[in-house]
Amino acid sequence: MINNETKLIGLIGHPVAHSKSPQMHNTMFDNLDLNYKYFAFDVQQNQLEQAIEGVKALNISGLNVTIPHKVNVMTYLDEISDEARAIGAVNTIVNLDGKLIGYNTDGQGYVRSLIEETGINIEGKKIIILGAGGAARAISYTLSKQLIAELIIANRNLEKAKQLQHILEQNVSTNVISYDEIKSYIEEVDIVVNTTSIGMHPRIDQSPINKERINSNHLISDIIYNPLETKLIKDAIQQGAQVHTGLGMFIYQAVIAFEKWTGVSPNPKVMRQSVL
Ligand code: ATR
Repeated sequence: MINNETKLIGLIGHPVAHSKSPQMHNTMFDNLDLNYKYFAFDVQQNQLEQAIEGVKALNISGLNVTIPHKVNVMTYLDEISDEARAIGAVNTIVNLDGKLIGYNTDGQGYVRSLIEETGINIEGKKIIILGAGGAARAISYTLSKQLIAELIIANRNLEKAKQLQHILEQNVSTNVISYDEIKSYIEEVDIVVNTTSIGMHPRIDQSPINKERINSNHLISDIIYNPLETKLIKDAIQQGAQVHTGLGMFIYQAVIAFEKWTGVSPNPKVMRQSVL
């Protein structure tokens, strides 16, 4: 159904050709009989400002924002949520009567996926995050707002991890360690979250953690979804640990964006099916 009432949602990024987001959102709009369509727009870095002006001029209802625009787009928005500001990136925009409001749904998407897909109660848990890049910032910030016991950031570049620690320790006890130190901490932590690209296609035989260090009390979470099961996840299963795989974060960040645009909650299982 497309008519004069159809509302438009766009994805802006570069490149966007392989994105699964249009398929996922359009399936849900159809399923729920919502008069929306989702299109991907390949926007070059030097045309970001014009693209955002175009969103207002054409009254496009909302956007997803992906690489390389997640940080720069913030300059052109009318309002930015506290969470997106703390994370330092926007992945979702809502056009509210001509006012563009930026959000970041990655962190909440991650936490909702973790809780709903594993059934875990994260209250009081000790969590190691591997990596301190954009994804780590979103995930650790949202986790820091929950009632967890402690966050430990393990990163190659310790300066980058310390900058992140500075933001997080306002909410929760936060520690920074090197990769070498993981072995001294891992026994006592409950959850390990990999946000690095170690194990991603094509280097699928790599893992950020030695298999022997994983035990059955751990919940091992990897945000990589290409492959759907990384070496880290396979090792964790063999060691008897509980696991949480990466597609969940991608699905749930979309669920939350969908809710912001339409006011309707989509079924995550149907969304997952549409991308598989
Ligand atoms: P994203 O937005 O997906 O988080 P990013 O901002 O480029 O991507 O961050 C990637 C993270 O993975 C970084 O923390 C990076 O570590 P450094 O900060 O030390 O560069 C980490 N990373 C990537 N490849 C890695 C590797 N081979 N070993 C250790 N860490 C790695």
